[in-house]
Amino acid sequence: MRTVPSLEIYMRMRCNVVRNLLQPDSSKAARESAVLYVCNCNGIREREVRQAIDEGASRPADIFRRQQCQPQCAKCVCDMRRMIDERRETLRYAAE
Ligand code: FES
Repeated sequence: MRTVPSLEIYMRMRCNVVRNLLQPDSSKAARESAVLYVCNCNGIREREVRQAIDEGASRPADIFRRQQCQPQCAKCVCDMRRMIDERRETLRYAAE
């Protein structure tokens, strides 16, 4: 019988996928060939999420609002939060 992972474990697995993509030692080719959708339910691409963050989105809700959609399953929310945190860290280090 097949067991279904809990929601927390599933979310952690998805976050690990994003973390691996954001590793600085990932090759450019590997990143380009990776899946580019952050939100599969609404078809929101990584590029669109990064653009929304650059334009001031500070929460996943801001990103959904800019894309004129709403979260469906919310599996992408931790990925979006991680991308927002990463951007904040980048700006913090740039300001030092
Ligand atoms: S993957 Fe984003 S709402 Fe389902």
